[in-house]
Amino acid sequence: MPTTKKPKKITTHVLTEMKKRGEKIAMLTAYDYTMAKIIDQSGIDVILVGDSASNVMAGHETTLPITLDHMIYHASSVIRAVDRALVVVDLPFGTYQANSKEALNSAIRIMKESGAHAVKLEGGKELKDSIERILTAGIPVMGHLGLTPQSIYKFGTYSVRAQNESEAARLLEDAQALESYGCFAIVLEKIPAKLATQVANSLHIPVIGIGAGGGVDGQVLVTHDMLGMTQEFSPRFLRRYLNLKEDMSNAIASYCQEVRQQKFPNAKEQY
Ligand code: KIV
Repeated sequence: MPTTKKPKKITTHVLTEMKKRGEKIAMLTAYDYTMAKIIDQSGIDVILVGDSASNVMAGHETTLPITLDHMIYHASSVIRAVDRALVVVDLPFGTYQANSKEALNSAIRIMKESGAHAVKLEGGKELKDSIERILTAGIPVMGHLGLTPQSIYKFGTYSVRAQNESEAARLLEDAQALESYGCFAIVLEKIPAKLATQVANSLHIPVIGIGAGGGVDGQVLVTHDMLGMTQEFSPRFLRRYLNLKEDMSNAIASYCQEVRQQKFPNAKEQY
C-alpha cells in the first residue's frame, strides 16, 4: 500500500528559519473547520483565528464584542481541521489589557480548551509584563502593531498608521521591544511599506504584513476578503483572488430556480 508522506508541521522555529533563508511566509485567517481544512491542505504556513471573526462571522462593526468563549469555539473548530499549519489565536479585546495575570489566564484558556499553538495580541511596550508572563507558561506570542483594530475608538479611523516621523520611530521601538520580550513574530497592519521594510530588516523574528508592502517576511489576509466573499471592504492592499460572492450568488439563484421549477432533484438524485 502506498504510504502518504505526512506534511511537515510548521512551528515557530520553522518560521524563524524561513526568515533566515529569505523564504516568505503565507498566512490566512480561518474561523471554522471546513475553511481551515481547505486552507491547510492548500499549503498555508500559518492560520490565524483572528478576532476579525467578530466582523466576518458575527457581523459586528468592530472586533471589540467577540469574547474569549467565542474565540475558543472558533479555534477548536480550526484545530480539528489542521495537520500542518501553525495555528495562532487572537486574544480578544478585554481579555489581556487589565494585567499580566488576566493575560496569562486568557492565553492558558485558549491553549488548553482549543489546542491552539500560539496567541496574538495587539500593542507595544505597554504589554511587556503580559507577554513575559504568557511566555513563562511556554505559550508562544505573536505581536501586532500599526493599525490595531481593538483600539479603533482611540484613533477613530482605519487609515494608514505611523505616517509621521515620531509615530514611525515609536512603532520601530515597539517592534524591537516585542522582539526583546520574546515574541516569535509580529504582524504589521496598514503602515507605509518603507517603514515596514525597515522594521523587518531590524528584527530577527519574522514580520508578517497586511497592507505593509512586499519588503516584510510574509503576508496575511482575511480569507473571506481575498476570496471575494466580502464586497463592502476594498482597501488598496486587498487583492481578490476570486469573486466567490458572485459565484455563490449565481449557484444559489440557480438552485432556487431549479427547486421552484421542479428541476431539482431529478430521477437520479433520489432513492
Ligand atoms: O483578526 C485578524 O484577522 C487580524 C489580521 C487582520 C492580521 O488580526
